Amino acid sequence: MPRMTRPARTLPEVELPDGVRWPSLGLGTWRYGESAARRLDEVAALRLALEIGYRVIDTAEMYGEGGAEEVVGEALRQSIAAGTLTRDDVHIVTKVYPHNASPEAMRQACDASRRRLGVDSIDLYLLHWRGGVPLADTLAGFQDLRARGWINRFGVSNFDTADLEELFALPAGTDCAANQVYHSLAERGPEFELIPWQRGRRLPLMAYSPLDQGVLARHTGLSEVAQRLGATPAQVALAALMAQPGVMVIPKSSDPQRLQENWASATLALAPSDLAVLDKAFPPPRRKRALAMR
Ligand SMILES: NC(=O)c1ccc[n+]([C@@H]2O[C@H](COP(=O)([O-])OP(=O)(O)OC[C@H]3O[C@@H](n4cnc5c(N)ncnc54)[C@H](OP(=O)(O)O)[C@@H]3O)[C@@H](O)[C@H]2O)c1
Repeated sequence: MPRMTRPARTLPEVELPDGVRWPSLGLGTWRYGESAARRLDEVAALRLALEIGYRVIDTAEMYGEGGAEEVVGEALRQSIAAGTLTRDDVHIVTKVYPHNASPEAMRQACDASRRRLGVDSIDLYLLHWRGGVPLADTLAGFQDLRARGWINRFGVSNFDTADLEELFALPAGTDCAANQVYHSLAERGPEFELIPWQRGRRLPLMAYSPLDQGVLARHTGLSEVAQRLGATPAQVALAALMAQPGVMVIPKSSDPQRLQENWASATLALAPSDLAVLDKAFPPPRRKRALAMR
């Protein structure tokens, strides 16, 4: 593992609007569950992630068309059976397709997700992106699921500021618990307007593709700070986002060594001088840009 030249710090957290605190580092699962041949390795990787300490797992009904949820469910079931954790130790985030975002379709989609995940209740249920279903209908669906105890909270994904303003103007819209968007050192657009807007409403931002799908792990713009700290470029890329209040990261890996490497980023402390070097290599936005999507 990379050497730490500065004292380790405690695991950073974000506070959800209901006051519950989650670690700022979770695990993404896009590309999990797409191949039967990789299934056993993926379950083993997820079990390892849970052993390492990951406590937020992000998935979606879209990933592997339910396959990723099944992998998460299997790993969770095995870990609980082995006595290494309880269901309540882990926060499961999954997402509903926009075409399933009406109350009736959402009830079926959510029930199918619960079955694949093997859980009674999903901790955070997100609208994957905005589609044709009116937001008011989607909110009604979320409320119904919450009343049934099938989800603990709901949120959105790929919402820009104008979408959030529309959502928050609706009754129950302010119950939204998170917005998950593309945010990395290579895509800092949300820092101009969206993140300040969310911070003002205590709405956490979940940064997806925080490693720019692996590109940042090889980016020379991170070398100076990484070498200075005895860390890897990927760790610096993740730590830089976690240094932003209200931001959590969900890097995906199914590789045992990289799961460890990414986990160690949560305790990597960046000094203001490190952040200044990163600002030069990855300049923060100077104006509003449309939200990027992957
Ligand atoms: N809401 C949305 O619309 C949306 C969109 C995209 C993603 N997401 C969520 O966000 C998660 C993360 O985003 P992402 O998967 O797009 O990209 P990412 O986390 O930025 O990067 C994942 C890629 O980087 C590699 N990688 C991971 N750690 C590494 C390291 N330390 N060094 C070198 N390479 C490393 C992974 O390969 P290995 O597995 O081989 O390590 C994988 O190819 C997704 O898995 C998904 O849960 C949500």
